[in-house]
Amino acid sequence: MAIVEPEQEEIRKIENNGLPTRFARGWHCLGLSEKFKDGKPHTVKAFGQKLVVFTGQDGVINVLDAYCRHMGADLSTGTVKGNEIACPFHDWRWGGDGRCKDIPYARRVPLRARTSTWPTLDQDGLLFVWNDPEGNPPPENVTIPKIRGAMTDGWTKWFWNEIVVDTSTREVVDNVVDMAHFFYVHGNFPTYFKNVFEGHVATQYFDGDIREDMAPESVDPNAPKMLKTISEASYYGPSFMIDELKYVYDRFEMDTIFINCHYPIDENSLVLMSGIIVEKSPDLEEDAEQIAADQAKWVLRGFAQDVEIWKSKTRIDNPLLCEEDGPVYQLRRWYEQFFVDVADVQPEMTDRFEYELDTERPMESWHKEVAHQLALRKAAAEQAAQQAAQQPAEQLV
Ligand code: FES
Ligand SMILES: [Fe+2]
Repeated sequence: MAIVEPEQEEIRKIENNGLPTRFARGWHCLGLSEKFKDGKPHTVKAFGQKLVVFTGQDGVINVLDAYCRHMGADLSTGTVKGNEIACPFHDWRWGGDGRCKDIPYARRVPLRARTSTWPTLDQDGLLFVWNDPEGNPPPENVTIPKIRGAMTDGWTKWFWNEIVVDTSTREVVDNVVDMAHFFYVHGNFPTYFKNVFEGHVATQYFDGDIREDMAPESVDPNAPKMLKTISEASYYGPSFMIDELKYVYDRFEMDTIFINCHYPIDENSLVLMSGIIVEKSPDLEEDAEQIAADQAKWVLRGFAQDVEIWKSKTRIDNPLLCEEDGPVYQLRRWYEQFFVDVADVQPEMTDRFEYELDTERPMESWHKEVAHQLALRKAAAEQAAQQAAQQPAEQLV
């Protein structure tokens, strides 16, 4: 018999060209706006800088560079006076437009007494800041859309959570196309999966079942049974995702909006946030506020699962993909538009791109995997029951 020589194949190398040297252009959510409306200055570390966020007497939320241009003190440890932030060091007063309005002990404010500011948007109970390394104002066509149901009587209030994660923002955004990880990491069973990228919007359509072997076992056999989830989730710009997420139960349907958003602290850490509102439909068998609170906890569990992976993985610029993986390279090209000057945005970054994954092949093997896990679980339960039954007899001997 002839001996087959293994082919001399090249070993695939992981490429890592390093972290980007700038922060994405776009609207970034800093969390619930009410948090910043207490008349006090707030410190926010974002975009590699320290910012001060404060609300003036006029109710307008302002975001400035925290370091005072006089002698460098931290304005976020100062005091709000009228519509201005007063520096703790020498009481210079800075307005939301970045100009020094008054120096109480001086006859005149020096020329060029101006600091950097971030345009803000206070919408649907959330505070957004516009970050642009080129310093341009936000174009009208890249705004954050109004969120259906938010801050209305027919829906719950926001259930909001924030965690700090030591990773780069691209890892978070990659999830948009990563169908397989939903099964292995999150216990979701994708039955339909499609991506559409166009302009500054990247969408993921995802219908899914819950993995039977990973679902919490219900103690109440009459509890409503969740059949599937239908999700349409879009990033509007580099960091703010609105997910129209419907839960289909055997007895009713539940409409929710799930927000998944982040802002970079620096190149390799970020604040990851989630927000949930639930429609108060009369069909719901439980209090909508309670459901939303439970959902919020569930989402945190999902984030923790991602974090566990991010903690130990490496940055990879040349992922090795199989046919059943989503369009990672196309998504990254879309994402790249936020990291180059507006003049350098290429059509391939913003042109419409659509891709539907064939879920048939993955589903076949995933059904087997779930059946195998359930069989293992059953066998373990039977063994435990057997041991328990033998126990008293042995004790008698
Ligand atoms: S350092 Fe801010 S007023 Fe002097
Ligand atoms: Fe994930």
